[in-house]
Amino acid sequence: MSHSHQHREFQAIRTLDKNGEEITSVGFNRFGFDCQVPIDVLRSLYLRSHYVLRAPSSTRTSPTPGPKEEAYHSLFSAGHEEYQSKSVYHADTHAISYTTLASFPPVKLLTPTERKRILVTGGAGFVGSHLVDRLMLLGHEVTVLDNFFTGSKTTVSHWVGHPNFELIRHDVVEPFMIECDQIYHLACPASPPHYQFNPVKTVKTSFMGTLNMLGLAKRTKARFLISSTSEVYGDPEVHPQTEEYWGHVNPIGPRACYDEGKRVAETLTYGFKSQDGVDVRVARIFNTYGPRMNPYDGRVVSNFILQALKGEDITVYGDGSQTRSFQYIHDLIDGLIALMNSEETRPVNIGNNAEFTIGDFAHYVRDIVEKVLAQDGDKRERTSQIVYKDIPQDDPQQRKPDTTRAKEVLDWQPRWTVDMGLEEMVRYYKAKMAEGSL
Ligand SMILES: NC(=O)c1ccc[n+]([C@@H]2O[C@H](COP(=O)([O-])OP(=O)(O)OC[C@H]3O[C@@H](n4cnc5c(N)ncnc54)[C@H](O)[C@@H]3O)[C@@H](O)[C@H]2O)c1
Repeated sequence: MSHSHQHREFQAIRTLDKNGEEITSVGFNRFGFDCQVPIDVLRSLYLRSHYVLRAPSSTRTSPTPGPKEEAYHSLFSAGHEEYQSKSVYHADTHAISYTTLASFPPVKLLTPTERKRILVTGGAGFVGSHLVDRLMLLGHEVTVLDNFFTGSKTTVSHWVGHPNFELIRHDVVEPFMIECDQIYHLACPASPPHYQFNPVKTVKTSFMGTLNMLGLAKRTKARFLISSTSEVYGDPEVHPQTEEYWGHVNPIGPRACYDEGKRVAETLTYGFKSQDGVDVRVARIFNTYGPRMNPYDGRVVSNFILQALKGEDITVYGDGSQTRSFQYIHDLIDGLIALMNSEETRPVNIGNNAEFTIGDFAHYVRDIVEKVLAQDGDKRERTSQIVYKDIPQDDPQQRKPDTTRAKEVLDWQPRWTVDMGLEEMVRYYKAKMAEGSL
């Protein structure tokens, strides 16, 4: 394929930030701290890291992709084909031959004092895997601890075998010992169907998991960051929510195992800080979406995109007047890394405060799905209607972060507009569907 052709294809997913400037890297260079990585290398890892080719049926020979398939592929890989595995699906035997990366993406070469040993619990999940990509590209030594309850090995398998990377199956409810300098404690199911699947286990994960990881931080003197949530504010009576707000949570409702679990996890975190001098960071994360989000999470964004891509009706719970704010994954990872490396020990909200009603958002997602399909030469008749169903119990009516603190102390603000983020996510799910893995 000619270079110009590749270049033209790449242009199709050029991304502009909210000021209209092109995004070529994520991360930042502030306070003498540089954590920027090129967006196209990252993208080659999440948009199409497992590129599944179809073997021609009734033969066992390796398939060679046709020009159309290669052109489509280059859309996602932007010249980074070597960082992608080309696994082969054999339709006749319904089997798949996995291949690993031909070469790892280049990671920064840090001096031993700059290079941190970083533990990421829940690192095989949606947020965790993006954090792992970032920390790996930045040149750190990363250990992922995960029990694969909601996460999956495929989200980080592109790093397996790299000398800076280790993947350990472990449940954080059990103690764990490792030498490390920083702990990002993310392990916890995050979506209602998963955290309600076994509510007692969810509370155990939040309480005992956090207790174990704080114990580890105490012993190793590692800096500890916990991914808390906007759910600690419950169904809030003040808008937007600042970190000072104490919350309005039903302690015995269906969401309590998660909300109260995170609240007690924060309590524990500050307990270890005041009693034992553990160096802690608390990120209160608001609704985040992006590639690698578990499609069966039942979260608004993934539901809407999948329904629209399949041409099914888009289901809105309630009358659609409840509002939400949505943050794109790269903004969250910027915020988490900024917080970890800042001196701020108070809780910090990390979220996007552009607010949408769920009803409007459904229309918005449908438009973007139609736009992406049209861009890819797949213009279809509209078949998705927006339908309204009963609202689940304790579903908050409105939630929107006040991110003044993050701006003041971290110089952090979201960069990604919702349409750019959605476009990437639509492409990710579309590619997964084309592979047959969705
Ligand atoms: N995604 C969001 O919008 C959002 C919002 C607020 C807070 N958070 C928090 O961010 C963190 C990550 O969320 P996510 O969206 O990536 O969810 P996720 O379900 O994709 O990831 C959670 C990961 O933790 C692992 N895990 C769960 N229980 C575990 C246990 N007992 N031991 C070891 N590993 C375990 C899962 O297998 C999974 O890989 C969670 O703590 C969540 O509460 C996420």
